[in-house]
Amino acid sequence: MSDLEELLEKTETIKANSRSELEEVGSLQECEELRVKYLGRNGQVQDLFARLGKLPDESKAKAGKAINQLKSSLKEEIETQKEKFKRKQKEEQLKAEGLDVTLPGRRRGVGKRHVLTQVSDELTSIFQRMGFSLALGPEIESDYYNFEALNIPELHPARDEWDSLYVDDTHLLRTHTSPVQIREMEKQDPPIKIICPGKCYRRDTPDATHYPVFYQVELLWVDEELTLGNLKYIIRSFVEEFFGPEFSMRFRADYFPFTEPSAEVDIQPPDGDDWLEIMGSGMVDPSVLKAVNYDPETHQGFALGLGVDRMAMLKYGIDDIRHFYRNDLRFLKQF
Ligand code: PHE
Repeated sequence: MSDLEELLEKTETIKANSRSELEEVGSLQECEELRVKYLGRNGQVQDLFARLGKLPDESKAKAGKAINQLKSSLKEEIETQKEKFKRKQKEEQLKAEGLDVTLPGRRRGVGKRHVLTQVSDELTSIFQRMGFSLALGPEIESDYYNFEALNIPELHPARDEWDSLYVDDTHLLRTHTSPVQIREMEKQDPPIKIICPGKCYRRDTPDATHYPVFYQVELLWVDEELTLGNLKYIIRSFVEEFFGPEFSMRFRADYFPFTEPSAEVDIQPPDGDDWLEIMGSGMVDPSVLKAVNYDPETHQGFALGLGVDRMAMLKYGIDDIRHFYRNDLRFLKQF
């Protein structure tokens, strides 16, 4: 047998051995050991190259080709095996971590504003478009701003109406947004034209129309020549924009300590007989203007307070205020 034949035969043997060994490998580690054994610096394929060097020149090409082929195919096959083990390892790791990569992804729900926030924002922006600017006040309010400055002295019977939640002797959770009127008038000279949305609290037992937490939107406009006619016009424009031009409205005389005269505003849907109360309103009482050092001789104005919950109930035909605060997503998702 010539040297060439011997080398070719040896190449074939190594090829056959390495193939069958590769079929038997059971881990990444074994793959690597196999690679070192055949393709490593002192490996069997390397040994074939050493022998190739000793062949006569005319035989070198043929044997060289066979050895090179063995080298590259073996390299590729080992790589493929290695990839397989790596993938398996990764899957096992993910499984151990409790991750099933074959499960389809879960879509995250995009949140939305609460229906009361939506309605409050809508009410506020209708008035902002009429030129009223946004003002906010604290929810924990002093007795002075919530009552005194609004012409409700300590023994005034109106205090009973606003059953109150006190946090200490002189501070309470505000019972209406009207104290924001006082705070803003203290901050600036007239004219003043503001809209104040916010949360209010009363010591009410929850039922279909009462809840201890609720929302109001307060409006105040003080200037030199404002009349009840201007107030009516503003309210009429608002009703048309929020409910629609088919709705009727009426003023019904009422009493608030901080407005004189005062009126409740009722609306009537085009197809209904019932009048529904939507807000309290009136011309700002001179004593309130005096409390903030405005001159009632030269300035007058009007205020109104809208119940946001009420408006949302009317708008969407909701029969129980408690739905808003239960946070049942099946209810909230509808809006
Ligand atoms: N603050 C009154 C209430 O909560 C509503 C109101 C506001 C009335 C402004 C007149 C003027 O019932």
